[in-house]
Amino acid sequence: KETTVLAGTLAGNVAATLPSTHFSRATFLMCSPEWYDVGYVINPWMAGNLHRPTRDASFAQWRGLYEALGRIADVKLLHPRQGSPDMVFVGHTALVHHGVAAVSSFAHAERQPEERHLRRWLQEAGFLLWDTPRETCFEGEGDALFDSDGRHLWAAHGARTCKYSHGHVAEAWHVQVTSLHLVDPRFYHLDTCFAPLSGGRVLYYPGAFDAMSLALIEAAYPAERRIMATESEAAQFGCNVINIGRDVLMHKASGRLAERLRAAGYAVTELPLGEFLKGGGSAKSLALRLSDLSVTYG
Ligand code: ARG
Repeated sequence: KETTVLAGTLAGNVAATLPSTHFSRATFLMCSPEWYDVGYVINPWMAGNLHRPTRDASFAQWRGLYEALGRIADVKLLHPRQGSPDMVFVGHTALVHHGVAAVSSFAHAERQPEERHLRRWLQEAGFLLWDTPRETCFEGEGDALFDSDGRHLWAAHGARTCKYSHGHVAEAWHVQVTSLHLVDPRFYHLDTCFAPLSGGRVLYYPGAFDAMSLALIEAAYPAERRIMATESEAAQFGCNVINIGRDVLMHKASGRLAERLRAAGYAVTELPLGEFLKGGGSAKSLALRLSDLSVTYG
């Protein structure tokens, strides 16, 4: 009986000392498309789509993702702000790992106000903040992604994030970082062309990288662990997926990518996210991971 009491007390103490940023279930942050619009052009997808997303369709699609994600993870919400039409793409505003959040320093002035809104939210939620200097742009999970074991960081440069920020960001967790060079302006963020998946696989579009970067990816992932998207699949944001354990959430697009992911053992949920493709983003960009990668299902 004594043992039980002791165990109970210990368990209670452990729970009491765990930081509030320790999640026992996969946890994400989303921001509703209340003020979402294509109001300026900072990536090639936005050109020709000025003010084209409609409010009703954006809300319906965002809600579809929110509900699908809510079935496999906890989803917290960030209050959207007028004047920040890209805030819905909250995945680019930070990179979070082990309760530490490296907050973005956006390359474009249009997105910089988003930083302070997220910084405040993260601070209130108990995260430790790691800021990046303005001179070395960094765009969060848009350009920096951990391997599925959470030990190795992949970071991109070439369009938004500066190469000089990679070392600084990796220092937040004392992890090794590999820099990848993006060469196609359509794939301006790493999350548009590269997704480490559970089980040590990677989903990527080779055409987005220079030869040196491709060699680094190929050295890290043996051929049977690489799932390649074709150019047209990548152009429909096929690599911009949310992956939690076996689950993959992605935009419903034509092509056979979803089938190939299923064949590799993933449970794929396809959702229409076309309104967000007009702004240059898809599933992955619409949610920021807050819990550690090792936390899958509660
Ligand atoms: N309009 C946003 C931007 O250009 C879209 C971001 C979506 N990005 C992405 N990685 N899929 O910053």
